[in-house]
Amino acid sequence: MASPPQPCVCVTGAGGFIASWLVKLLLSRGYAVHATVRDPSDRKNAFLKELDGASENLRLFQADVLDYGTLAAAFAGCEGVFHPATPVVGDKLVDPEKEMMAPTVKGTRNVLEACSATNVQKLVVVSSVAAACFDPNWPEDRLKDESCWSDKQICKEIESWYCLAKTEAEEMALEYGQKNGLHVVTFLPGHVVGPLLQTAVINISIKVFQYIIKGGSETMNNKFWPLVHVQDVADALLLVYEKGEPSQRYIGALEQMDIKDMVALLKTMFPNYDYVDKAVDVDYKLAFAADKLRSLGWKPRSLEETLADGVEFLEKAGLLREPCRLPYLYDMTAEE
Ligand SMILES: NC(=O)c1ccc[n+]([C@@H]2O[C@H](COP(=O)([O-])OP(=O)(O)OC[C@H]3O[C@@H](n4cnc5c(N)ncnc54)[C@H](OP(=O)(O)O)[C@@H]3O)[C@@H](O)[C@H]2O)c1
Repeated sequence: MASPPQPCVCVTGAGGFIASWLVKLLLSRGYAVHATVRDPSDRKNAFLKELDGASENLRLFQADVLDYGTLAAAFAGCEGVFHPATPVVGDKLVDPEKEMMAPTVKGTRNVLEACSATNVQKLVVVSSVAAACFDPNWPEDRLKDESCWSDKQICKEIESWYCLAKTEAEEMALEYGQKNGLHVVTFLPGHVVGPLLQTAVINISIKVFQYIIKGGSETMNNKFWPLVHVQDVADALLLVYEKGEPSQRYIGALEQMDIKDMVALLKTMFPNYDYVDKAVDVDYKLAFAADKLRSLGWKPRSLEETLADGVEFLEKAGLLREPCRLPYLYDMTAEE
């Protein structure tokens, strides 16, 4: 008897930190994967073809989220799409509209419309806790959950373009799904750490983690840090794809602590690093609940395991030998 056809899904921005772990997981679970990258000939994306199962079940597609046609070509034949592709930048933006808002918001609109045009059944949009962090009316003593949305006006006032872009894109995706009968689920990870599948490009969340361990002259924000392991993020994305309810948001973050407490814990585990020692206290705390995702069956690693895996990866990759800089947008004392 012929075996049933493999389910086929597409992952946007597949060479990225989170997306590449998701591609690896999907291949290991028997999915055929259409992986989009902006430049298939760029050496930084070559590792995707080396993943287990890639030679049989991975197809690379050139696609830019601002180019609708390239997305539609990559989605053709797919039952589902995962959309992590977003610029995640650490530098000060010169043109926020062009560098952040358009690729995130218009890019997500293109993904939604390309899903409808190609009969994709389900879409998982990778949002962020950034879309749930600035609600001035949220009670201070209550963990933020999926009913919490960042206030777009506040995001604009503080020029937090990433928070604004992620909030607008997520809101639009959920509304679009409801109006157009597309099964859309959004996933909001905290600050993602863990091993990179390649070391040609170090993404921003790893650069920040590297700075926390190495320390340096820049000053961090002593807010709460909702960490989560990259493989637990990949697991969560597949879980919400397979079991998530349409039009629902799911937060994925571990229990949270501020930088000072995190550094104190890290020092008990890895005493030989300098660690960040300049952190300014802020009058808000970010703490999120992941109960909804856990109720679907999400079983993330503990905070200690997550931290240990993150540090051990950096050690093995030689990324703790040289001095490093805190990305500009995370430096509380950066000059304008
Ligand atoms: N890492 C975190 O801590 C964290 C936390 C919360 C949410 N997230 C979300 O998770 C997603 C992935 O983040 P990440 O940390 O894995 O970032 P990453 O490694 O920097 O990956 C971002 C990906 O987006 C792609 N991309 C950017 N602009 C694009 C465009 N115009 N068209 C097509 N692709 C484009 C990049 O492709 P190129 O290689 O071509 O530049 C890259 O593959 C993002 O949506 C981010 O907002 C991340």
